[in-house]
Amino acid sequence: MSLPKPVLITATMGLVSRTGGDIDKPPVEERSATCDACPFCDDVCGDPACAACAAKKTTRRTRYTMCEVRRHTTVDSCWLVAGTTVYDVTSFLRRHPAGTMSIVRHAGGRDCAEDFSFHSAKAQKLWANHKIGRLVRCPSEKSSPSFCLIS
Ligand code: HEM
Ligand SMILES: [Zn+2]
Ligand SMILES: [Zn+2]
Repeated sequence: MSLPKPVLITATMGLVSRTGGDIDKPPVEERSATCDACPFCDDVCGDPACAACAAKKTTRRTRYTMCEVRRHTTVDSCWLVAGTTVYDVTSFLRRHPAGTMSIVRHAGGRDCAEDFSFHSAKAQKLWANHKIGRLVRCPSEKSSPSFCLIS
């Protein structure tokens, strides 16, 4: 007699929200041979010919996982995270009074909540202009105390 396989509940939840209820089948689109995108979330690879990732890109979203955020660490695409807020600061980099690199060094997901709080009220309004959404946990990640599963 064989026991039922353990089910990874968090992964199932992610698939429900992305594919609209189809929890058994993996995404059907073909991944390109070089695709390094996380299959559990909306992370996409850099290959424009990757059908699996093209299918993920169809809707504009405001929730991002670390898998996605950690790709944006250059002057060409620079994302910051402060708490659970995600910012795309690419267009601001060259105007930053403390220089481009002080921001780029903090890009890709390390928590900038402290950096945010030492800025003036005026500067914090500028940060707000660059908000693109919220950080959510990728179903492939183990739950961590800094994330709330319910939100
Ligand atoms: C959305 C992102 C950011 C925006 C819009 C922003 C904006 C600004 C602005 C307007 C100032 C002038 C002083 C003030 O008004 O507080 C400033 C100063 C400064 N910022 Fe940022 N900043 C950002 C991210 C960061 C990050 C991630 C760091 C991390 C090191 C950082 C480090 C600094 C420092 C050290 C200063 C002081 C510069 C000085 O007074 O010489 N900033 N920032
Ligand atoms: Zn891909
Ligand atoms: Zn992921």
